[in-house]
Amino acid sequence: MKKLPVFILTVVLVVAASTVAWGAGVLRVATEAGFMPFEFVDEKTGELLGFDMELIKAIGAELGMEVKIDNISWDGLIPALLNNNYDVSIAGITITEERAASVNFSDPYFESVLTIVTKSNVQNIASLDDLQGKIAAVQISTTGDFEASDLQDAGGLKGVSRFDTVTDAMQAVIIGAADVVILDLPVANAYLEANPHAPLKHVGPVADNEFYGIALNKKNTELLEKINGALTQLHENGTYDKIYQNWFGAQ
Ligand code: ARG
Repeated sequence: MKKLPVFILTVVLVVAASTVAWGAGVLRVATEAGFMPFEFVDEKTGELLGFDMELIKAIGAELGMEVKIDNISWDGLIPALLNNNYDVSIAGITITEERAASVNFSDPYFESVLTIVTKSNVQNIASLDDLQGKIAAVQISTTGDFEASDLQDAGGLKGVSRFDTVTDAMQAVIIGAADVVILDLPVANAYLEANPHAPLKHVGPVADNEFYGIALNKKNTELLEKINGALTQLHENGTYDKIYQNWFGAQ
């Protein structure tokens, strides 16, 4: 009679141990933490903070997986998935057709839009149509870069300076090496809030809305389903709203 519970316990322990050994219990996450308020490094603790970081941890908790997050370069995120170095990337990544040709995306988890950052004293730039003869700074291979590149091709922009990080692109405008930055509006807001003395402003939404998704290797369809299930769960149980409010206040 007494042996049964011990047997069950042993089975549970063996299964748990082998799950850890296979790595199935660990969610390997890659991000690029230069994208406040979605992902950034806490200066004091070195911890990765932000909306995306909380969301992916909540997804991990929902799936019973341990979440390990690495901060890598932006243009290394998709290659890292293709090489199977990570299970997912979450980094404010906009779902685009081109990207969806090489990776899978979760259901959209955030609606965003591009804006234009200029020097605070600039009066004559309010939309993408006002950039004739200007130089745009962008983070390389972002939707801001794609927009700027299209504009340049159409003759609506003189040049595009591409940087590895948002901070470097902002810096280019501060020092006068570029006229504008084209980037995600919530990130422009957070940057201006965190750098109140930067001589910069943004002009509000300038393009169609875009949607962020969590990216995965196309082969990893089982995990994709699990992540979408967890996202649904987090919307239903109020966790998503709580995380949203933490970073963006009440809607
Ligand atoms: N949403 C934009 C894109 O997908 C910019 C994302 C940049 N993310 C980052 N962590 N630097 O192209």
